Amino acid sequence: MKGILLAGGRGTRLYPLTKTISKQLLPVYDKPMIFYPLSTLMLFDIREILIISTPEDLPNIERLLGNGSTLGLSISYAIQEEPRGIAEAFIIGASFIGEDNVCLILGDNIFYLGEHINKYVDAIHKHEHSQATIFAYHVSNPNRFGVIEFDNNFNVKSIEEKPINPKSNFVSVGLYFYPSDVIAKANKLSPSKRNELEITDLNNMYLKEGRLQALPLLRGNAWLDAGTPDSLMDSSNFVQIIEKRQGLKIACLEEIAYKKGYINADQLEGIINNLTDGNYKDYLIKVLADEYEFY
Ligand code: DAU
Repeated sequence: MKGILLAGGRGTRLYPLTKTISKQLLPVYDKPMIFYPLSTLMLFDIREILIISTPEDLPNIERLLGNGSTLGLSISYAIQEEPRGIAEAFIIGASFIGEDNVCLILGDNIFYLGEHINKYVDAIHKHEHSQATIFAYHVSNPNRFGVIEFDNNFNVKSIEEKPINPKSNFVSVGLYFYPSDVIAKANKLSPSKRNELEITDLNNMYLKEGRLQALPLLRGNAWLDAGTPDSLMDSSNFVQIIEKRQGLKIACLEEIAYKKGYINADQLEGIINNLTDGNYKDYLIKVLADEYEFY
């Protein structure tokens, strides 16, 4: 399974914060925003990753993450010249995807999935060559998102992008899994009224063919998108509260790489030795000493 992290766009809802800095490099508490979606890909065991961003922002993202080898990942980069829509990621990433299945995650989406993640991994793998899988989250303000209507058995009845009158409180989060025919489908899309290739139109193609499952993210899972001043603040507050309370970090990429076995103890020690003194280094020293072994 390949992974695409879409981190472009103009970040207009966060202006002037985003006048000179990519939205996805803004801080969410103690880390750049992009660490969070990247950590989610890693937790789903996706190690071959394409990051797509704007011509202006991509060099900075590349400076931050490099080729991923220190984390046991393979990260490559591609440019989206204009924000022509989320579904364009599959056109830009066509040669990267090749014949594989692919997961797309949005660069401003923050997940805190806990132990439930194993259930989701199983459900995705069961159908990965034939079906698309999306996730539904219950929110109080559905009309800002892609709204999913379910029947009584949690089969998807409809998905509508930012409807004025939402048919439910379940919305589609920015994490999508597709078979490789997603490339052909993305190529058939036409731009919407707001002139974008819409991810919701793509999902509706799979729905029409009876090839779309939407898994509800259960209570106890958190999903935030950090694309507005308020949701950016909420995201920082959320991460701060959990990290301060537990003394454990969310989206510490080196910790995940080590615990997943992508890097060994020697490699983690090498990373630590290259860090300047501070909270992050102290944390990784404890990770290396296996202090958080059971978490
Ligand atoms: O966050 C989940 C929602 O994301 C879904 O519920 C919606 O169905 C989906 O359309 C999308 O809605 P947004 O209006 O929130 O998407 P936004 O334009 O903010 O873009 C999300 C991320 O994707 C953001 O980090 C910027 C990036 N992006 C977006 C577009 C349109 C790109 O890199 N290129 C693009 O062309």
